[in-house]
Amino acid sequence: MVSSFLWCSVHLSIDQSRLAAELEALGNISEAAPPVTTRVVFTEADQRARAFINRLCREAGLELRDDPVGNTFARWAGSDPGLPAVATGSHIDAIPNAGRYDGTVGVLGGLEAIRSLQRSGFHPHRSIELIIFTSEEPTRFGIGCLGSRLMAGAIDASAADQLKDRDGITLEQARMAAGFTGSLSNVRLSVASYSAFVELHIEQGPILEARNLEIGVVTAIAAPATLRIWIEGEGGHAGAVLMPGRRDAFLGAAEIALAVESAAKSTGALDTVGTVGVCEVSPGAVNSIPNRVRIEADVRDIDLTRRDGVLKRISEACMDIALRRRLQVRIESLNADAPAQCAPNVVDVVAGACEEHRLRHDRMTSRAYHDSLFLSRVVPTGMIFIPCRSGFSHRPDEYSSPEAIGSGTLVLAEALSRLAGAA
Ligand code: GLV
Ligand code: MN
Ligand code: MN
Repeated sequence: MVSSFLWCSVHLSIDQSRLAAELEALGNISEAAPPVTTRVVFTEADQRARAFINRLCREAGLELRDDPVGNTFARWAGSDPGLPAVATGSHIDAIPNAGRYDGTVGVLGGLEAIRSLQRSGFHPHRSIELIIFTSEEPTRFGIGCLGSRLMAGAIDASAADQLKDRDGITLEQARMAAGFTGSLSNVRLSVASYSAFVELHIEQGPILEARNLEIGVVTAIAAPATLRIWIEGEGGHAGAVLMPGRRDAFLGAAEIALAVESAAKSTGALDTVGTVGVCEVSPGAVNSIPNRVRIEADVRDIDLTRRDGVLKRISEACMDIALRRRLQVRIESLNADAPAQCAPNVVDVVAGACEEHRLRHDRMTSRAYHDSLFLSRVVPTGMIFIPCRSGFSHRPDEYSSPEAIGSGTLVLAEALSRLAGAA
């Protein structure tokens, strides 16, 4: 087996220009004009992007199947198809006003890794699968990693189906309309589905670039939590209602947003972060006092106890602000996930692949979350990070060079070959 690995790595070549062209074509499938990519799950753009990826997978001779939530699986059958497969993949949905590399590098890079193995003449012993996960981004249904969360059994299937978007459309209605039918309980992975999962992703932070490293070998993924907070006060005429009598819901929300910032800073740890990225004000007229506001807060840390301490401080601050401003404040916890450790054997394989190809690398934690956070609960999982310019992500000027993507894809191909073994 070892000699086939060596043989394989000698012959691997990544088609960087084809991959760059495919990333650009996918980036242009967007609800917004280039260079902005916005691709929310089950929209027309998402459907077109899925069709684009499916066509490329078919051209590579992969066997396609979808599950009821719209996760797509593209399989390259191994010589022993009965064995648990080795998987790679990521997501193609993109938050509003995003760039074109988040998630897509792991999908198209995963496909190119498979194609490079095919070109090299490698035949896998275990099947190799590319997974395109549904809705890694929380944009539409408020909760991230929907597809992988269901695969890991980390969310109740019927509760997931009842999640609603801001127009009141349920996940069940949206997925059915997009052609993904059947019970969500069938999304859950059976124990023996995969022997390993490796996700290639841009770092989304500045560390690799600052340290002049080509690859980050991820060892752990931070713990994210999302709160939806409803603030209710009393509306009225912006001219006629005097300041002393007001119960302005937006001012309560503004104070809560500041409380999120100070709770995150209070730990003194750089790994604690808190963000309020959603604020919807009703009725939303300049001459009307806000009577109802919905904000959403994202809180993360690599230390679960510390993260939960921040959540507690935020909830105490909400109670205090509600009392002081005579508002009603309701906190809904959308998710409060635990951090994940990558599997030591997969981490070692990724590090070994970097060494094989003489790429400058180091071990690191992921501060962003990924589908790997959930896959790691049911499959030995690892991640490969590549640098992105200035660490920019979740914005249109997100950029990773074809060379950086090529190196990540090469490490992925090498890792997949080692994990699948040669036929
Ligand atoms: C994933 O997109 C994240 O927000 O970490
Ligand atoms: Mn993202
Ligand atoms: Mn991502």
